[in-house]
Amino acid sequence: MLTFDDEIITPSTSAADITARLAKPVSSAPVFPASATTAAMPATATETSSTGRVRVEDKRIINCKADVNQLVPFKYKWAWEKYLAACANHWMPQEVNMTADIALWKSDKLSDDERRLIKRNLGFFTTADSLAANNIVLGSYRHITNPECRQFLLRQAFEEAIHTHAYQYIVESLGLDEGEIFNMYHEVPSIRNKDEFLLPYIDVLTNPEFKTGTPETDQALLRSLIVFACIMEGLFFYVGFVQILALGRQNKMTGAAEQYQYILRDESMHLNFGVDLINQIKMENPHLWTPEFREEVRGLMQKGVELEYAYAEDTMPRGILGLNATMFKEYLRFIANRRCQQIGVDILYQGATNPFPWMSEMIDLKKEKNFFETRVTEYQTGGSLSWD
Ligand SMILES: [Fe+2]
Ligand SMILES: [Fe+2]
Repeated sequence: MLTFDDEIITPSTSAADITARLAKPVSSAPVFPASATTAAMPATATETSSTGRVRVEDKRIINCKADVNQLVPFKYKWAWEKYLAACANHWMPQEVNMTADIALWKSDKLSDDERRLIKRNLGFFTTADSLAANNIVLGSYRHITNPECRQFLLRQAFEEAIHTHAYQYIVESLGLDEGEIFNMYHEVPSIRNKDEFLLPYIDVLTNPEFKTGTPETDQALLRSLIVFACIMEGLFFYVGFVQILALGRQNKMTGAAEQYQYILRDESMHLNFGVDLINQIKMENPHLWTPEFREEVRGLMQKGVELEYAYAEDTMPRGILGLNATMFKEYLRFIANRRCQQIGVDILYQGATNPFPWMSEMIDLKKEKNFFETRVTEYQTGGSLSWD
């Protein structure tokens, strides 16, 4: 089998500061001016400035003074509905049968290129969802001052844990070298570069000194939410999703593909929630949405496309599964345009089209009619427990 060690940077040869930074995403966050820390932010009961009953008209996504511990009255029904929909789609990795994947992995029916793709795919995802969970729990949750949105974020954080569990379950089922896969985000440049791009936008929100309440800090929060929802969850996951789902469509790695289908469905909900959140913050704080800021967002999106395309080339240098890197270039441009439209900035790539129209069917997965026709557990109707 081919090895690709020549392309791997070991921890001892990689830049020490980069490795340390990846290991401690909370560190090296920018310092914000003292004035930013004085703004009232009722993130906890003790910080809530009002003891009166909550009025809908007082609720806001950021910098809200109303009590965040009182879920109702609802203001943002879209957030509550997404929370309910996410709960209705509950699934667990162990429900998926991995027997066929294990047999295929042990056989000689996978090419070296397919094995490389699967390993590097897992190499990105095994740590990406931990970054996502940390970003929510240690970062954005604190700064979103609305209880129905927080309710969704709590559900989302649990789903990120389920996703990490799913990737770990695949790694364990196939008997892969855990250290090799989980440490790829330090060792494989195309993965490390994506995470390095994300880290400053996570760091800014996890910095204990950071508080919203000034135009600069509110923009910093908005920028991070855009990077997280539209670039990380909305772009950086998509080459990986297409790859494994394309394998599944060829009846290869069907267990992994089923897991990825569930994850894709969850992630598209995370993305849609993020887009609604971003647009609501824009509506409530129009002064943040300046022409300069919108241009900056377009630049970030363009950088995201470049990084994800480099990852596509690295994971499939010769083109396999009827896929090649050029198709991914078009796909990423198509998706980036869509993300721009969703948050109201000008598109970047005129005329980009979708070379993978079958991906939309994957997002609309109905659990009771599973694409791969494996075992199904329906949580939506199975809510009653017997205590006999
Ligand atoms: Fe996830
Ligand atoms: Fe997510």
